[in-house]
Amino acid sequence: VVDIRKLYGEHGLFTYDPGYGSTGSTQSSITYIDGDVGVLTHRGYKIEDLAENSDFMEVCYLLLEGELPTAKQKAEFEKNITYHTMLHEQIARFFSGFRRDAHPMAVMVGVVGALSAFYHDSTDIHDPRQRMIASHRLIAKVPTIAAMAYKYSVGQPFVYPQNELSYAENFLRMTFAVPAEEYKIDPVVAKAMDKIFILHADHEQNASTSTVRMAGSSGANPFACIAAGIACLWGPAHGGANEAVLKMLAEIGHKDNIKDYIGKVKSKQDNTRLMGFGHRVYKNYDPRASVMRKSCHEVLDALGKRNDPLLQLAMELEKIALSDDYFISHKLYPNVDFYSGIILQAIGFPTSMFTVLFAVARTVGWVAQWKEMIEDPTQRIGRPRQLYTGYGERPYVPMNKRK
Ligand code: ACO
Repeated sequence: VVDIRKLYGEHGLFTYDPGYGSTGSTQSSITYIDGDVGVLTHRGYKIEDLAENSDFMEVCYLLLEGELPTAKQKAEFEKNITYHTMLHEQIARFFSGFRRDAHPMAVMVGVVGALSAFYHDSTDIHDPRQRMIASHRLIAKVPTIAAMAYKYSVGQPFVYPQNELSYAENFLRMTFAVPAEEYKIDPVVAKAMDKIFILHADHEQNASTSTVRMAGSSGANPFACIAAGIACLWGPAHGGANEAVLKMLAEIGHKDNIKDYIGKVKSKQDNTRLMGFGHRVYKNYDPRASVMRKSCHEVLDALGKRNDPLLQLAMELEKIALSDDYFISHKLYPNVDFYSGIILQAIGFPTSMFTVLFAVARTVGWVAQWKEMIEDPTQRIGRPRQLYTGYGERPYVPMNKRK
């Protein structure tokens, strides 16, 4: 890794690096990825160990504070988060301004951004206490907003947070409980939900995190920055991939059609890609995909859907792709999204909510990265350069001479 400022001075060299594949935009001590080997760690802890032994609140604390919490620190942290789970009642009224068939991500971008209009104290980014309160507020309120977006889309009344439940249980209840009907939380489903949140919590300088950092580098308030991250995450090449995996599986329809579909991908017909495969950084198995695959089997077993045709099709597709020369030579392996959509659908989420769940989980990564950036004394406004390909200087053409 070369720090070009040391070699060439402030403006001595421009690198042209579309998609920033070889450009480090920041230093960070939060998340480490070795894409060739397939390693992901948060603050030095392997994702597999965190998914197996910790819950999402512990991982949130780890990302924000740098260490795994003691029991006392965890209890204190959970108290801080649950204190903020409610939304101002006026924010709840925002939802009725959206069309009922609006994509919940569109609603998320709007409502999360609007939090800055309600929590003025948290917009003081120079006060460390307010930075932490803003982080807690976002981690606490984003699931409430996400569940409300869902409830609004299906025409059901909002279900308010219940703070004695775990983060995942509370989210499931706010999403699926219906007044006057008993809602029982399946512990296997709650555990899987918690794992999905852990696996999506942070992933160093991906597109949405870089968007959050870029927005924050101008001094914009944290709510505005996270809304920008949500907008970026929405794209099918990023957070929308698990939704795209289910569409692809539906299009393939039957395992007899896999070979034809793979042929279409390999010949790049209509730019077809195998969704849920490939990653900018991982050129090996995404370690999150292995955990997700196992969790997928556990959930489907618990829900009595072991023979779910979608899961069977996905497993067959994975097997065929992993033994195909094209995928081997391009180092294309399943990523975290290949199996997450199947679990989410089995739990009962509509596909339009998949990216929303990703946003709920990633909020902690975004705020941890945003805080790290603001607290970095070398931080300055993000401002990439460009390779100009337009006209050179030319004489101005008056209106009556233009063709
Ligand atoms: N299916 C088929 N071929 C692929 C795929 C894929 N999923 N991904 C990359 N390739 C091929 C490209 O066609 C290209 O081939 P070529 O060299 O013969 O032209 C080569 O691999 C490199 O592709 P790039 O687009 O340059 O790779 P990049 O690193 O930019 O893309 C990305 C990464 C966007 C994730 C890509 O692999 C992709 O589109 N995957 C499908 C979408 C997806 O699953 N996204 C989720 C990512 S994980 C997340 O956001 C949580």
